[in-house]
Amino acid sequence: DAIIPFYGKHQAGITTRPQNHIYFASFDVTAENRKDLIRLFQDWTEAAAAMTEGRPVGDESDNKFLPPHDTGEVLGLSPANLTLTFGVGPTLFTKNGKDRFGLRKKQPAELKELPKFPLDSLEERWTGGDLCVQACADDFQVAFHAVRNLARIARGKAVLRWAQAGFQRTKQASSKNETPRNLFGFKDGTVNPDVNDPAELNKYLWVQPGDGADWLVDGTFLVVRRIQMFIEVWDRTSLKEQENTIGRYRDSGAYLGQKHEFDPPDFEKKDANGEYYIPITAHVRVARGDGKEKILRRSYSYTDGIDPKTGTFDAGLLFICFQRSLSEQFIPIQTRLAQTDHLNEYIVHRGSAVFACFPGAKKGGYIGESLF
Ligand code: HEM
Repeated sequence: DAIIPFYGKHQAGITTRPQNHIYFASFDVTAENRKDLIRLFQDWTEAAAAMTEGRPVGDESDNKFLPPHDTGEVLGLSPANLTLTFGVGPTLFTKNGKDRFGLRKKQPAELKELPKFPLDSLEERWTGGDLCVQACADDFQVAFHAVRNLARIARGKAVLRWAQAGFQRTKQASSKNETPRNLFGFKDGTVNPDVNDPAELNKYLWVQPGDGADWLVDGTFLVVRRIQMFIEVWDRTSLKEQENTIGRYRDSGAYLGQKHEFDPPDFEKKDANGEYYIPITAHVRVARGDGKEKILRRSYSYTDGIDPKTGTFDAGLLFICFQRSLSEQFIPIQTRLAQTDHLNEYIVHRGSAVFACFPGAKKGGYIGESLF
């Protein structure tokens, strides 16, 4: 129990029901040739398969004069639904115009740095990367252990560039499978494609034959944004203003003008004063647009001590979404949000990266195999 299969048609950790914790890591590749890069993916595959099954990494050696293969802090623990999801960033293919591993021809046209959006305040220390590992588990120690061991195995081939931990309410705090709340107190993740509907996933999530990158078929594009939320400012804002900012009621999670969390919105509905229930600049209205672009959101909250510049919390949303196309899904949504979303008064984007997440690995094969 508490094991999510590592091998499969798609990688785990995408349509998987979100676990309680995330440890997201971005790596830069230091390997100088293709052979070493392939070796890294093979070693990571073996270790990932072991850890997700709750087995230690590598053979246990009883030679006390060598460092142990596995770092040991999850001995005796369940894998806690650990998933490890791997992706490659644009800079793995080309960096400063250089074709690093003879992969230039395989770089999907979609896989390039995101455009700079108005109001972005990105910092180098939270941005970019050649590779990513998304570790999610219901136990934080299990998630961190996984990335720690993958980083250790990568020695000489890849180095950590940035990493971010995130959380949600845990199953101990509520065993009900309700939509989790973000640090603004609102349910976050209500509107998402139906992960049990293969047709919907093929349309919005999984890269299809003919999309322009055959090696990525059954994989998907990941966007991660480290978005700081000004929670002190929010906490001094009236509930009415908070709800108008999002376009939903805080407690029930229903759209303004509706009763229940999953009731559909009525964007035309007006109150007695002739005002729209869901204001024109409300986050949900702007995010939805005409409803054509759907993304699979799988975000976590983060807190990271104090922002030294302001003495306020460095807290917010580690926003993660998956989609078949960046140019047709994330980019148009974020372009609209950056222009008119009322939420912009309360948030700022500090970090950003994009990755192409491989299709799943087959037993005996390795993650990323289709690329080489
Ligand atoms: C909906 C919060 C950033 C896209 C929502 C909802 C909340 C929320 C509370 C309503 C519940 C739900 O459907 O999940 C936030 C916060 C953000 C943030 C606090 C930043 C800190 C983003 C970003 C995007 C995005 C960066 C994409 C570029 C969406 C979409 C919906 C949504 C597509 C569903 C809209 C609908 O059809 O009703 N968000 N969000 N959000 N958000 Fe965000």
